[in-house]
Amino acid sequence: MKTYLVTGGAGFIGSNFIHYLFEKYDDDVCVINLDKLTYAGNLENLIDVETRENYRFVKGDICDAKTVDPLVQEADIVVNFAAESHVDRSIGAPDAFIQTDVYGTFILLEAARKHGVEKFIQISTDEVYGSIIDGSFKETDILEPSSPYSASKAGADRLAYSYFVTYGLAVIITRCSNNFGPYQYPEKLIPLFVTNALEDKSLPIYGDGKNVRDWIYVRDHCDAVDFLLGHGAHGQVYNIGGGNERMNIQITDLILHYLHKPDSLKNYIQDRLGHDRRYSVDTGKIAALGWTPGHKFEQAMHSTIQWYVDHKAWWGKLKSGEYKEFYKANYKKEL
Ligand code: NAD
Ligand code: TYD
Repeated sequence: MKTYLVTGGAGFIGSNFIHYLFEKYDDDVCVINLDKLTYAGNLENLIDVETRENYRFVKGDICDAKTVDPLVQEADIVVNFAAESHVDRSIGAPDAFIQTDVYGTFILLEAARKHGVEKFIQISTDEVYGSIIDGSFKETDILEPSSPYSASKAGADRLAYSYFVTYGLAVIITRCSNNFGPYQYPEKLIPLFVTNALEDKSLPIYGDGKNVRDWIYVRDHCDAVDFLLGHGAHGQVYNIGGGNERMNIQITDLILHYLHKPDSLKNYIQDRLGHDRRYSVDTGKIAALGWTPGHKFEQAMHSTIQWYVDHKAWWGKLKSGEYKEFYKANYKKEL
């Protein structure tokens, strides 16, 4: 039985990954979830697993070596999801991004080097490459991150690689495209637009709405990480993508159509600073190992939108109180 240290396990992808592990391995896995519970961390995402004997939650910061050290010592596998993850916030206040995404990853890597772990998965992002107008980035392409978020992730990505080269740590780095699914904090495009539409609030579309992202259902991302734990080579980077490139306006139309809401909810607003036009990754490397995503985009989008329809109690709380005020003050839009 393997012990996983999942950092950031109370966030969107981390909590989906923990659900994935228990559904797949049931009692044959042990999971320690280390999460600081920032605004993005939510233990409600894990209510259905919290009483399991093979699950433990530790509230703590990946930047705190005293907390991290004994947990890494216990672990066979470290999967580092913990990060500040929202580009808009990184534009307004980059500090926490540098601290958690770079320094926190360093603290985890140091503990892993000291105790030795079987695998260290660094969850990086396709945003480290920057924008691309034609074609798709390969893992060997240069990194040109353009937001404080993506730059901090690029720092962590390369730091993890250096621990493989220098110390022989069993590092694997994943660069996944935009995820969607249940439990995503309603400040990101899809949950924000779905929940705003449900409340008949406007949908704030940046610029001309023609920026392109490649969307992947979160369960496919979780499955790819699990696959790479078994099949990935140490010191390697793997792109992960859904193969579903869509303009933001297409995503907006899909949401409005599914919810039978009017076009008049669309609200074109000032563009995001440094807004990357298009992300696209070449996924040939992981496909050659035998992994491709299992979910169809439209179906997964419909079930995701329906999840938000059915879980108003989950997101309603997040969209009230101080965060609402924070968004109005900083981004001139309602959360
Ligand atoms: P999220 O913001 O929903 O969750 C991040 C989690 O990390 C939260 O639970 C938060 O409390 C925790 N956290 C933050 N700082 C911490 C710290 N110092 N110590 C411990 N825990 C801390 O993010 P997400 O969308 O689930 O993304 C998870 C990871 O996947 C991130 O590393 C992100 O860069 C990467 N990623 C995300 C996407 C995407 O589309 N969401 C795509 C590719 C890669
Ligand atoms: P987001 O979900 O923030 O992910 P990322 O910036 O990391 O790709 O945004 C996805 C796309 O949607 C991006 O092109 C910006 C755009 N967007 C809007 O147009 N309006 C919004 O309110 C948000 C949050 C995003």
